[in-house]
Amino acid sequence: MNIRTATLNGVATIEIARPEKKNALTLEMYLAMTDAVSAAVADAGVRVLLFTGQPGVFTSGNDLEDFMQRPPVGEDSPVFRFMHALTACDKPVVAAVTGAAVGIGATLLLHCDLVYVSDETRLAMPFVALGLVPEFASSLLLPQLMGHARAAQLLLLGEPFTGADAVEFGIANAVLPPDEVLPYARRVAERFNTLPTGAVRDAKRLMRAAAKDVVAQTIRNEATVFAARLRSAEAQEAFQAFFQKRKPDFSKC
Ligand code: COA
Repeated sequence: MNIRTATLNGVATIEIARPEKKNALTLEMYLAMTDAVSAAVADAGVRVLLFTGQPGVFTSGNDLEDFMQRPPVGEDSPVFRFMHALTACDKPVVAAVTGAAVGIGATLLLHCDLVYVSDETRLAMPFVALGLVPEFASSLLLPQLMGHARAAQLLLLGEPFTGADAVEFGIANAVLPPDEVLPYARRVAERFNTLPTGAVRDAKRLMRAAAKDVVAQTIRNEATVFAARLRSAEAQEAFQAFFQKRKPDFSKC
């Protein structure tokens, strides 16, 4: 199973485990993560969710083979259902991130509450370089967090950035040595066991309330353009170039 779940001490851990493909996310994995988030929300014994990957890789984002063969269609698509489940989650969400966090691996962090990264974490949102557009409300949330100019570096140029950058940009809380990230994130998550659940839930809802509708609308707007761009000659060239391990040539697109 590429998504492993375990609940211990009030913490529901959702672990991405497909290391042979750098934890690239397939349709089945989005569905499993959606089910895991829903189950954790429904379980009164769960106080907090914890996302993690494998040592040295959080996730390389959407499986590019899936983008070519089984592109997401409409709001019922697995990725859309996962985005909805995460943005609707009323319990705190913590992320422990080591290694690569690419595409949705980076944008999902914008919907977590506490994010811990390592000094070798490398994040990137290379949507444009893939012939695509930003998703998961990153086109809204990143400019808000860091200003348009710096967001353009990440979203238009697709520049990779470090764990320390993620802290500076307001995406992450702290940088730790790689093998300390998960234990530290777990200790932080377990602190919610001593806090009043109702107050935590109300506070999180209030923190997200002002942006809730615009985030949902932005995700829908992005998804419409994203779906069209997946079929574009630019995206097809980018995907083929990745699997052929060559640089894309957009001059004929
Ligand atoms: N989708 C499908 N397969 C992927 C993948 C993805 N997103 N990311 C990695 N893989 C596969 C590679 O094709 C390779 O498979 P192979 O062993 O059968 O050739 C394997 O995982 C290892 O990847 P590799 O690129 O050799 O690892 P690396 O350590 O050199 O680089 C990354 C790691 C994450 C930097 C690199 O794999 C990468 O850039 N991946 C694509 C990221 C991306 O564009 N995601 C989509 C964003 S919308």
